[in-house]
Amino acid sequence: MDIQVAPSILSADFACLGRQVAELEEAGAKILHIDVMDGHFVPNISIGPLGVRALRPHSRMFFDAHLMIERPEAYIDAFAEAGADHITVHWESTFHMHRLIQQIRGAGLQVGVALNPATPFEVLECVAQELDMVLIMSVNPGFGGQEFIESALEKITKAAQWRADTGAKFRIEVDGGMNRATAQMAVQAGAQIIVAGAAVFQQPQPAEAWRQLSTSSELMKGPHQ
Ligand code: DX5
Ligand code: ZN
Repeated sequence: MDIQVAPSILSADFACLGRQVAELEEAGAKILHIDVMDGHFVPNISIGPLGVRALRPHSRMFFDAHLMIERPEAYIDAFAEAGADHITVHWESTFHMHRLIQQIRGAGLQVGVALNPATPFEVLECVAQELDMVLIMSVNPGFGGQEFIESALEKITKAAQWRADTGAKFRIEVDGGMNRATAQMAVQAGAQIIVAGAAVFQQPQPAEAWRQLSTSSELMKGPHQ
């Protein structure tokens, strides 16, 4: 499996989001990570379906919507209609994960489940066969620019091992505190998608920062290469 670096727009300049996203796409980014926060599930508020809808005509990238919201089931159709390609929901945000996964698939989208740092991989064992992606949070969700939590590495290893043992197909995404060094460790542990916010958009030249992170030789040395 190849390694993708997905820019997270949370750290972008929202006054010129369309242009910043277009620059990343031109540089070669394939996945755009869109953080959705409601001020309840996490202590921060970002954008919703309107933001996704506004970006859609500006980009052909794969839109990966990371929902950090309560009652995600109430918003799946809105994100599907707005143009999301994939929705990731948090394990901790619903009582009925199996039903929610079916709902997202029924809306015609790919589906992922995210785990907070305190949630073990094992909770996913009954549904992981149905997933396109497992998102391992390597910070507590809510803000960009936080420090990487090392215990995420062990969880990535566990997810990759379980996948190998069962023949499941999900990709492993890691989100939070990613830079060249932590991305290298995450890839070595078994991650395929590296979400990077500050490491891309808080740099003087985001597209160049994305390119360097994606092509760094360290990232090419994962166990799947
Ligand atoms: C945090 C978000 C992340 C965030 C990552 O809750 O889910 O996607 O943008 O930002 P960095 O890469 O700066 O840690
Ligand atoms: Zn995210």
